[in-house]
Amino acid sequence: MVHPNYAQVAPRNSTGIKVVIVGAGFAGLACAIECVRKGHEVLVLEKFKALKSLGDIISFGSNVGRIFERWGLHDQIWPICNHLSELTIHNSKGEILTVQHFTEMRYGAHNYSGHRGALHEVLFNYTKSLGVEIRLGQDVTEYDEDEGRAWVVSNGERIDADVVVGADGVRSRARTLVLGYDDKPKSSGYAVYRAWFDAYEQGVDRDPLTDFMCKNGDAFYGWIGPDVHMLTSTARGGRFMSWVITHKDEADIEESWSFPGKMEDVLKVVEGYDPRCAAILAKAPSCVDWKIVYRDPLPTWISKGGRILLIGDAAHPFLPTSAQGASQAIEDGITLAVALQLAGKDNARLAIQAWEKIRYQRVRRAQLFGEQVRDMWHKAKPEAKGAEVEMPSPEWLLGHDSERHAYEVYEDAAREISEGGYRLPELPVM
Ligand SMILES: Cc1cc2nc3c(=O)[nH]c(=O)nc-3n(C[C@H](O)[C@H](O)[C@H](O)COP(=O)(O)OP(=O)(O)OC[C@H]3O[C@@H](n4cnc5c(N)ncnc54)[C@H](O)[C@@H]3O)c2cc1C
Ligand SMILES: *[C@@H]1O[C@H](CO)[C@@H](O)[C@H](O)[C@H]1NC(C)=O
Ligand SMILES: *[C@@H]1O[C@H](CO)[C@@H](O)[C@H](O)[C@H]1NC(C)=O
Repeated sequence: MVHPNYAQVAPRNSTGIKVVIVGAGFAGLACAIECVRKGHEVLVLEKFKALKSLGDIISFGSNVGRIFERWGLHDQIWPICNHLSELTIHNSKGEILTVQHFTEMRYGAHNYSGHRGALHEVLFNYTKSLGVEIRLGQDVTEYDEDEGRAWVVSNGERIDADVVVGADGVRSRARTLVLGYDDKPKSSGYAVYRAWFDAYEQGVDRDPLTDFMCKNGDAFYGWIGPDVHMLTSTARGGRFMSWVITHKDEADIEESWSFPGKMEDVLKVVEGYDPRCAAILAKAPSCVDWKIVYRDPLPTWISKGGRILLIGDAAHPFLPTSAQGASQAIEDGITLAVALQLAGKDNARLAIQAWEKIRYQRVRRAQLFGEQVRDMWHKAKPEAKGAEVEMPSPEWLLGHDSERHAYEVYEDAAREISEGGYRLPELPVM
């Protein structure tokens, strides 16, 4: 049964629930947007002093594409996204293993990928246009709660709410302050060099080894070798280029979105490869050396008192090969907004438990999907073909509608918790 409130666009009766969100990344902004749409009162606290265009390429699967469309953002987002109709995958010698064709819509919705900074700005502006207060330059240093409310201390000031959401990203302070976890990431054994730059300025269009990337609009190519995969694409009609190359790396440097990589190290990874690889990589004026670390799944994302919760990368970081980190972060916020709406102010803690019950196993399954994709590419035989090396698009992942699903399953989840007591969710058996 689809709940009558499903996809209700115009608000909505006020629920009187005050939600404070820490972090204005994709998780925090999406949570803020959907909370306002469901009638909650929202305040966002963000550490950055100003909106900066950071990062390189980011992807949203059609599971979240359908949410962007529902918010009416397609016309703003689509023109600034990559328009990739196929992905050609080669082995290290440059022999084509497969040409994977993409349809514009998958499971009834678009998927979107483009520059993180540009897409973030669209969501940021949209959040503000809904009347949400986003306070910048806020450093949240404390989280606490009692029976009736939760609060944070930001820049020394205490701010009260019914619910506090920690959406403070992969190096989350909330994880330690709220859940009591010491952050002890382990090396995954892999790192990614990544870059985004102006293709024309760097001469991509003038080098016969690389001009195929901008001659016919946006292009998307990949190479896989033993324990290496490289993906490159162009955006905005071939004007901007990005590449990522994942390789074995045990070095112990800080996990960071801005740690610079050295071009000589990057080129070493593709020694003996199809010469187009080195030609493409060398075009970047600079790149980021991003270590991929593992964190064991947290057994819960909720505080002991039940009014503070973690969403997005703070709760569950993703491998880049899942292409779902930002999408799952957004699904968290959508689901929470619905659960709070259906539960009402007096049952906020029940709503939060039901939210975790609805989200937990799906998130874990999506995380494991990223490991499967990476292993598929890194262990592929040089003569692998077709589906053996294609990026999978499973329906359980991309056909999902988190808003609709929350309306469908909330009552059952809440009833089970009320009747049987709340048990921490179990990890799925794979
Ligand atoms: C600078 C940057 C660049 C990135 N570039 C890419 C990229 O190119 N490609 C990609 O796939 N992913 C990138 N990511 C990660 C990607 O945004 C996330 O994996 C995903 O969108 C989930 O988002 P999130 O909101 O959970 O976390 P994030 O996007 O990391 O957002 C967390 C937010 O919380 C804020 N914050 C942290 N601590 C506090 C505090 N104590 N008080 C207040 N605010 C706080 C941070 O400033 C940040 O804005 C980047 C993240 C960052 C921060
Ligand atoms: C977009 O869709 C295609 C085809 O469904 C898929 O293979 C690709 O991985 C998707 N991209 C993202 C970012 O999810
Ligand atoms: C976001 O809003 C700012 C300030 O109003 C504006 O300058 C900028 O162009 C907007 N960006 C987008 C992508 O709409």
